[in-house]
Amino acid sequence: ALIFLPKLIFTGKELIGENVERITRRMGDLRDVFEDKAAFEVMDPNLIAYHVSSIFPVKEGTPGGLFMGITYLMPGKVGDEYFMTKGHFHSNIDRAEFYWGVEGEGMLILMNEARDVWAERMYPGSLHYIPGGIAHRVANVGNSILTFAASWPSDAGHNYGIIAREGFARRLKEVNGKPELI
Ligand code: PA5
Ligand code: NI
Repeated sequence: ALIFLPKLIFTGKELIGENVERITRRMGDLRDVFEDKAAFEVMDPNLIAYHVSSIFPVKEGTPGGLFMGITYLMPGKVGDEYFMTKGHFHSNIDRAEFYWGVEGEGMLILMNEARDVWAERMYPGSLHYIPGGIAHRVANVGNSILTFAASWPSDAGHNYGIIAREGFARRLKEVNGKPELI
């Protein structure tokens, strides 16, 4: 276990049960995400932005299996941009995913490979089918924690690179107290 400890601290990953893993993302892990660098720099890099607890009943990469995760995204803003997840395409880009809202208010931001961006409102009970080839990211647009669940194929994988480099083609900002894609 000691051998793995440094790696766990680095990646923010902890094993919290048999086949259950919790990832913690802090502001310092989200440097590429937000537009307003001045507002970002004055924030505490240790502030927790979100946790994801996931269950992996089969090995990552296994064809035909499913994973499930629950994301707890804190409320807050960096400048006029809401706290949000990193966002990703799947490594096997044609793999789909379900998201569903559990508590709080959010926006699911979606982008296809042609970089068209659109968004769906998330609320307790909302259900979202994310087809293959669509990058996905969630913003918390409310004043309380946003909890949503996800289920994805065990051979989907996460590709963060494209979004880290190029971002989404539109940003979700608070304009006159309301979320707007800009
Ligand atoms: O598998 C998913 O799409 C989700 O469980 C996300 O990984 C989770 O919401 C966190 O977002 P991200 O992986 O983009 O940081
Ligand atoms: Ni995904």
